[in-house]
Amino acid sequence: MTTQGSGRERRVTVRELLEMKRRGEKIVALTAYDFLFGRLVDEAGVDLILVGDSLGQVVFGYDSTLPVTVEDMIHHARAVRRGVRRALLAVDMPFLSFQISLEETLRNAGRILKETGAEAVKLEGGDEERARHVRALVRAGMPVLGHIGLTPQSVHALGGYRVQGREEPDAERLKAEAQRLADAGCFALVLELIPATLGGEISRAVSIPTIGIGAGPYVDGQILVLYDMLGLNELFRPRFLRQFAELGGTARTGLDKYVAAVRSGEYPGPEHSFE
Ligand code: KIV
Repeated sequence: MTTQGSGRERRVTVRELLEMKRRGEKIVALTAYDFLFGRLVDEAGVDLILVGDSLGQVVFGYDSTLPVTVEDMIHHARAVRRGVRRALLAVDMPFLSFQISLEETLRNAGRILKETGAEAVKLEGGDEERARHVRALVRAGMPVLGHIGLTPQSVHALGGYRVQGREEPDAERLKAEAQRLADAGCFALVLELIPATLGGEISRAVSIPTIGIGAGPYVDGQILVLYDMLGLNELFRPRFLRQFAELGGTARTGLDKYVAAVRSGEYPGPEHSFE
């Protein structure tokens, strides 16, 4: 077995994710940002939970992930860690925490793992320089999840949140990046916003699992931003997203009822009051 512990608490490991790819089992991944949702997501049987730097948008309300800091990631990952017992927990390395020098990359990734108890870090990009950093992290014993395609930390360089790899040279570059990151030691790859056929080609070419978001069905697993797929984030409805719940509407209904009940004096009633 490649899981650790016993019963409900057996943890998913990076080896288990590799085995799942070999067995042709789909990997289910989601983001989480706090204790209660971490627990709900974990208890649903999700295999990989990512504390994504998407928290910049869905928790802090920034218009990109760029302002997110290492401290922000550590703060939220510690909360999620307390709720997650089974899933493999990965944490995003935020913008400029892995681009400056090898030393800073190692120090920041080490802090994230030491101070949160997560099992892996994720970083964006697949050029030679990124691969050099991945190799150093892996050599130091830190599992790395790669991320290519639409890499939100490079949104300004990419000219917006657009599908990547539509043109042949771009598709070839992404295939080369995927192979480079696999060779550098990434245990899995997030493929974001690329054509479905390219997602399939990359997934067949590399031996590590691919986890798609807007990358079609021919990848080894799927990840979505939790608040988007639960319908809490009413501001974001891209083509690739299915809303599996309507939490935004449910929350509004509950809030309206609370406001009305307090205003009318109907709440709290005797059953909510102490003698
Ligand atoms: O930050 C994030 O939530 C992510 C996922 C969308 C893969 O990178």
